[in-house]
Amino acid sequence: MTKASVYVTRMIPEDNIEELRKHFAVEVNQEDRALSKEELKEKLKGKHAVISLLTDTIDSEVLDAAGPQLKIVANYAVGFNNFDLAAATERNVILTNTPGVLDESTATLTFTLLLSMARRIPEANKFLRDGKWQGWAPMFFIGLDVDKKTLGVAGLGRIGKNVARKAKGFDMKIIYTDVCRNEEFEKQVGATFVDKETLLKESDFLTLHVPLIPETHHYIGEKELKMMKKTAVLINASRGPVVDEIALVKALQEKEIWGAGLDVFEEEPRIAPGLSDLDNVVIVPHIASATMDTRLKMGAIAVDNIIKVLKGQMPVTCVNP
Ligand code: DGY
Repeated sequence: MTKASVYVTRMIPEDNIEELRKHFAVEVNQEDRALSKEELKEKLKGKHAVISLLTDTIDSEVLDAAGPQLKIVANYAVGFNNFDLAAATERNVILTNTPGVLDESTATLTFTLLLSMARRIPEANKFLRDGKWQGWAPMFFIGLDVDKKTLGVAGLGRIGKNVARKAKGFDMKIIYTDVCRNEEFEKQVGATFVDKETLLKESDFLTLHVPLIPETHHYIGEKELKMMKKTAVLINASRGPVVDEIALVKALQEKEIWGAGLDVFEEEPRIAPGLSDLDNVVIVPHIASATMDTRLKMGAIAVDNIIKVLKGQMPVTCVNP
């Protein structure tokens, strides 16, 4: 019997691919780059399942090019703003994501950005490497304290909660906002629910963990940046378009806020002009979940979803409404 065919749009850990090969005819994009839309349409033609990345736009055009035999697109990410959910649902294509397995690594990277920015690590590292150090001095690279400061969390999902738990280790005061309150978590961690305005005004460190949906596009823009403390640090490891990057560059240039730590950008892999010239920002290329354990677990969920769906069962992490 011919095996069902699966396309993987970019290399993921070999163990995950091996598992897939036990069940299906698997083809993997071996090139070290994301596919263009035309390439994606071509490669998906006739496939029964796909492992896609957040860089692959899965819309009606791509789904139609793939053909009616396509049963599932398993996104190798927890975020799924690259999917046109309605178009997939209309065509009976199941879409899945990888929740729950990247909270720790993403929250750790969030905290890494926070600490790096607070203590000016990239700037100090560069200074030393550039051979500029003349010896210890008391007023040298003065940073911000983190202990006992106020951490504002926008979006108390799994990742936001994990960041808040980590913040307890620094005795931080935690305030958060979300579409609804989570009183149980408030009790567990000692967090306080506030409105967005209070979050902006009171946070010493503001970290964003909202999904990218129309309501959160430019959740932080010029108006919001002006409401933040001059000594505040903004961290974004959610999705780039949640922050108006041009407004952020301006706020950082004009020292409206103290600094920013960014893992994500509005038009990846492009970053806003001026951003990389600034000392008061730490930028990394969307690596929040980039640990091998996490990557393997993300792959295991995607593979499991594909096996289940191609056997006619329900996937574990369906995102279709
Ligand atoms: C996700 O999973 O959505 C991250 O942004 C990439 O790992």
